[in-house]
Amino acid sequence: MKFFVDTADVAAIKELNDLGMVDGVTTNPSLILKSGRDILEVTKEICDIVSGPVSAEVVALTADEMIAEGRKLAEIAPNITVKVPLTWDGLKTCKVLSDEGKMVNVTLCFSANQALLAAKAGATFISPFVGRLDDINMDGMDLISDIRQVYDNYGFDTQILAASIRTVNHVTQCALIGADVITAPPAVIKALANHPLTDAGLAQFMKDWAKTGQKIL
Ligand code: E4P
Repeated sequence: MKFFVDTADVAAIKELNDLGMVDGVTTNPSLILKSGRDILEVTKEICDIVSGPVSAEVVALTADEMIAEGRKLAEIAPNITVKVPLTWDGLKTCKVLSDEGKMVNVTLCFSANQALLAAKAGATFISPFVGRLDDINMDGMDLISDIRQVYDNYGFDTQILAASIRTVNHVTQCALIGADVITAPPAVIKALANHPLTDAGLAQFMKDWAKTGQKIL
């Protein structure tokens, strides 16, 4: 399973990328706002760091304008993935840009039917939002399972990019179901290393080591 980092924070991306933990990056208008940076500048900087797909989202609502924005974003770097919302105009944009050979990530997906449409429109990635379904007392993970089954039933090669990942448990569940990619904030990716028994075991080893009076270096 590939790890994308869901942020426009360049320092955080660099830190995780240096560890080999970043297969790609996703951004959205809210994350650009949080970064306080210009979208074209910060996206270029991210593309210079990360060689995998970097999603940059259009903000227009009509297909013609989305296509124009997508083409401009795609000029930033060869690894740009144009991110479009799951609306009819977004699907039209997906079809046009995919036919031009550009990578497209269809975002804000909340149903298997929407995911089916995105695959038929040629999406490289579909982004089902797990956490936001959990927020309204639905099970976001059911959506990942449903899309996995639908795509496998018909051999679609659109990759399932599980988004709105908020917990380490979401990551485990996505890996078990077979999501192709998860995108998560840096804090969630870092938290994957944590386990209370690791901390307790290390504390005991340190205590016992001190009693040996030995040194390695
Ligand atoms: C994905 O592409 C989105 O940017 C993101 O995962 C949304 O997450 P949120 O629901 O925690 O804002």
